[in-house]
Amino acid sequence: MNAKSRSDYLAQLSSGYSPIYGQAISIRPMLPEDLDIETEYVQGWSAETRYNRLFSAGSYTSPERLKKITRIDFERDMALIATVMLDDREVQIGVARYVRRDDGHSCEFALSVADAWQHRGIGRALLLNLIDVAAAAGIDTMVGEVLASNKPMLHFMRALGFSSESSAEGPEIRHVCKHLAPPPASPESRGSDAAGTQ
Ligand SMILES: CC(C)(COP(=O)(O)OP(=O)(O)OC[C@H]1O[C@@H](n2cnc3c(N)ncnc32)[C@H](O)[C@@H]1OP(=O)(O)O)[C@@H](O)C(=O)NCCC(=O)NCCS
Repeated sequence: MNAKSRSDYLAQLSSGYSPIYGQAISIRPMLPEDLDIETEYVQGWSAETRYNRLFSAGSYTSPERLKKITRIDFERDMALIATVMLDDREVQIGVARYVRRDDGHSCEFALSVADAWQHRGIGRALLLNLIDVAAAAGIDTMVGEVLASNKPMLHFMRALGFSSESSAEGPEIRHVCKHLAPPPASPESRGSDAAGTQ
């Protein structure tokens, strides 16, 4: 992807500030300039959110690691962040990401929302956006790992049509999986398909 088509693509994925449960929230791709807000975001996780997201109480916040996870290439991997404006400052309140697997057509996702912003539809909005972006990028299968004790997330997964099965990692982890519908063909591509078959 050249620089122009990349910036058009990223602009297309940015929602601007629109209401989710009455609060103006932006969902947009994560950029390297978001290092500070991502750092503040992960440092603000409660022990429970940290454990549910990382499956350990361990640290995720080394400067090297944070730099790495804010450098998204947007072809192999994707991260969408949710932000709000607080006191004229953009604050990150959630992130949904995927990494394309080596097969090229499936990906592994992860999702988190800041503790103070949970249960307001933000996780749902982030994941539905991520699913659309993944499908449009040619991904047909999305998988993830969820702690078996993380009942709200497993409930949410089922509601979104993910299957859940035991994981090779052990009984404490569930493997979730969803087959993604291909995006609807655009009128232009339908036109060229039709032309091609005549
Ligand atoms: C799981 C998580 C991402 C959900 O985000 P959220 O913004 O709180 O979720 P939403 O408000 O969009 O709710 C989505 C669904 O989750 C489920 N859910 C959320 N909170 C719940 C709760 N306290 N009890 C039961 N179900 C709950 C519901 O199915 C809900 O759908 P509904 O509102 O239609 O009932 C968030 O709680 C989180 O960051 N948890 C810690 C990290 C984590 O567990 N990540 C998953 C592993 S990758």
